[in-house]
Amino acid sequence: MNLVVVGAQWGDEGKGKLIDILSEKVDITVRYQGGNNAGHTVIVGEKEYIFHLIPSAILRTGKVCVIGNGVVIDPKALLEEIDGLKKRGLSINGERFKISANAHVVMPYHRVMDQLREGKRENKIGTTGRGIGPCYSDKVGRMGIRVIDLLNPKVLKSKLADNLNEKNDIFSKVYGVKNYDFGEIYKEYLNFGRRLKSYICDTSLYLHEAMKKQKKILFEGAQGTFLDIDFGTYPFVTSSNAISGGVCAGAGVSPGCVGQVVAALKAYTTRVGEGPFPTEFDKKMDDLIRSKGHEFGATTGRPRRCGWFDAVLSRYAVIVNGVTDLAIMKLDVLDDLDTVEIAVAYKFKGKIYKDYPHDLEVLSAAKPVYEKWPGWKTSTKGVRQYKKLPLEARRYIERIESLLGVRVKYISVGSKRDEIIIR
Ligand code: GDP
Ligand code: IMO
Ligand code: MG
Repeated sequence: MNLVVVGAQWGDEGKGKLIDILSEKVDITVRYQGGNNAGHTVIVGEKEYIFHLIPSAILRTGKVCVIGNGVVIDPKALLEEIDGLKKRGLSINGERFKISANAHVVMPYHRVMDQLREGKRENKIGTTGRGIGPCYSDKVGRMGIRVIDLLNPKVLKSKLADNLNEKNDIFSKVYGVKNYDFGEIYKEYLNFGRRLKSYICDTSLYLHEAMKKQKKILFEGAQGTFLDIDFGTYPFVTSSNAISGGVCAGAGVSPGCVGQVVAALKAYTTRVGEGPFPTEFDKKMDDLIRSKGHEFGATTGRPRRCGWFDAVLSRYAVIVNGVTDLAIMKLDVLDDLDTVEIAVAYKFKGKIYKDYPHDLEVLSAAKPVYEKWPGWKTSTKGVRQYKKLPLEARRYIERIESLLGVRVKYISVGSKRDEIIIR
């Protein structure tokens, strides 16, 4: 059965670690959306790897990794990632690493536009500044440049000319910044094409053939449900469909291909960037959990905002993703607390909201209704069997389970590969 791993909060749930574990049992791992805004951390022994575009499964020899058509690829960032991994002794070649010819390419003007737009906005999103939004805008605006275009000088020339024609006007007339030189970008991107050529193919066809041969696939989500362009806390979201439904359009496979949907959830909640966050801690707790959980962005290094577990949000994530299994990550971060809290509803202007409200005003001003549970005050880091977890920790997990209506199958108690309980 093929499976997908999705983030069920605002990203950084620990998907990288979970995918590293689950990829052992599959043949192929596929990224289906997002770009190098993602940062997925995997710790193997004493070594730490942070992946931005390449699926975390590349660490496992004999496994194939694919970047699907739904991903936006910054070729410069991708080549740096490939080179970095090669330097660390990993083998990356066209046999085990494939890039969709149809994926869209992040151009230098996308990165700059991302930052300029943020600068002009009153309600800042706090983007990663990687050009993700502008690249996806060009894709749906039918101005985008695709990976395959980097291999065809004639097509690239005509598309780039059209783009610069428009972009240079916007850059100079709206933002008052200097124009882009056609020749420089053209040369640079043709060179990227040459360097990436051996990895480029029709990945949808490749996956189709692999499935005919009974190969098992893991689809790797980036970001999280509440950063999803349709279901997240819009406009404080990313520009792609991070939910499980993004798999079909982002990898070119049919809905029936995915049998298992694993949602990664932190035992608490974090968010990087701006936007509503109902269960956000006060400053003291925020600092405490940030330092215990090392909550700093894997891509931008920004401090992550921290808060209690929010069952209103995660219950909605279960619904829109069709979650079949839950993975509770970073349980160990709560080990020392006297009490732990779970938001079970929101209250706004006297009204109780049990379901996730899409109204930005409600979401921004709602006060969570909390349940308080006793802490376990014991280290869980060495625990490998569910029944060996302290009673209070099991009660906490089981309460989340009953609020979300889905079984918790994985419990992560540390950042290392073996610090996991599989029920
Ligand atoms: P992703 O974007 O969902 O892959 O998550 P990130 O890698 O951005 O952030 C998760 C962070 O938590 C990483 O630094 C992981 O090494 C770390 N981590 C993952 N699982 C655990 C866990 O169970 N306990 C602790 N303490 N850290 C964890
Ligand atoms: P992973 O895969 C956490 C956030 C940014 C910002 C918003 C929009 O590591 O979980 P963008 O650059 O995408 O236009 O920024 O989305 N964001 C993430 N937050 N984890 C991520 O990825 C994120 N990718 C984007 O901070 O608030
Ligand atoms: Mg991350």
